[in-house]
Amino acid sequence: MVLSRQTVAVIGAGNIGRALIGGLLKGGYLGADQVRATRRNPLALDELQASFPGIHTGTDNVAAVDEASVVVLAIKPQNAGQIIEEIRDHVRKDALIVSVLAGITTEALQASFAHHLAVVRTMPNTPMLVDEGATAIAGGRFTTEEHMTIARHMFEAVGKVEEVPEYLMDAVTGLSGSGPAYVYMFVEALTDAGVKQGLPRPTAFRLAGQTVFGAAKLVLETGKHPAILRDEVTTPGGTAIAAIAELESHGLRTMLINAVATATKRSKELSEIKK
Ligand SMILES: NC(=O)c1ccc[n+]([C@@H]2O[C@H](COP(=O)([O-])OP(=O)(O)OC[C@H]3O[C@@H](n4cnc5c(N)ncnc54)[C@H](OP(=O)(O)O)[C@@H]3O)[C@@H](O)[C@H]2O)c1
Repeated sequence: MVLSRQTVAVIGAGNIGRALIGGLLKGGYLGADQVRATRRNPLALDELQASFPGIHTGTDNVAAVDEASVVVLAIKPQNAGQIIEEIRDHVRKDALIVSVLAGITTEALQASFAHHLAVVRTMPNTPMLVDEGATAIAGGRFTTEEHMTIARHMFEAVGKVEEVPEYLMDAVTGLSGSGPAYVYMFVEALTDAGVKQGLPRPTAFRLAGQTVFGAAKLVLETGKHPAILRDEVTTPGGTAIAAIAELESHGLRTMLINAVATATKRSKELSEIKK
């Protein structure tokens, strides 16, 4: 199975589904005629068609999955049961199901479909809307290496991909799935901090956003430990160390460790409810 030869049906082409379609087409991984996308809102479907000319769009989920070799479930978890019921007898027996449904296990999905389908569960995040997503993928019982490669290549079209055992998906949800929210708070707070020191808000906002973006890029591109990069900007007796001491005294690390632990616990609780 090679991604370029697949017919991909995206069931629920909202934020996540649309971003995935955009990445796959822009990167040249798939031709427009290899993509089928569904949602209910006809105006939104027109808009989708206008943005990605040549893809097949419609409200008919059964027609979309009929010939598809890869079916992406990108609807909200609360709509999943009814939609799976609708398509289960029409999905090809050799199809790969790629799920972005938060908290729904591969076992639960396998059990919902009529045959033993290959399922890859994923946890992307919204920076995939700007091709900078962080997505974790986990295979199910009937998933082969080829299936994992297809799923990996799909999400690499919109960012970076990590393969994890499925039991770690709640931790991924706590870290990168929910993580953009923590970073937005950080950017917002840094902006306010700049405003407090007299910077015009738009200037403070741009400086804060670019600082987060640039520092993240430096971490990823150099591969250096963040502590080393921090030491490199910390002059003895200087400004950075004065601020670092302040952050440490308020327990920045402990706060983040506890925040991710709480989000991970909540993710576990929510998947228990969905079982
Ligand atoms: N957003 C995140 O940060 C994030 C991160 C990780 C995972 N996820 C997961 O990604 C999934 C999608 O999230 P999202 O933010 O992309 O949600 P979204 O924008 O609301 O997209 C869901 C889409 O499903 C469509 N839909 C609903 N009922 C349908 C039906 N019967 N047939 C066909 N399409 C239908 C909706 O279209 P209409 O409005 O036209 O009906 C909507 O466009 C969720 O399961 C979520 O758990 C999201």
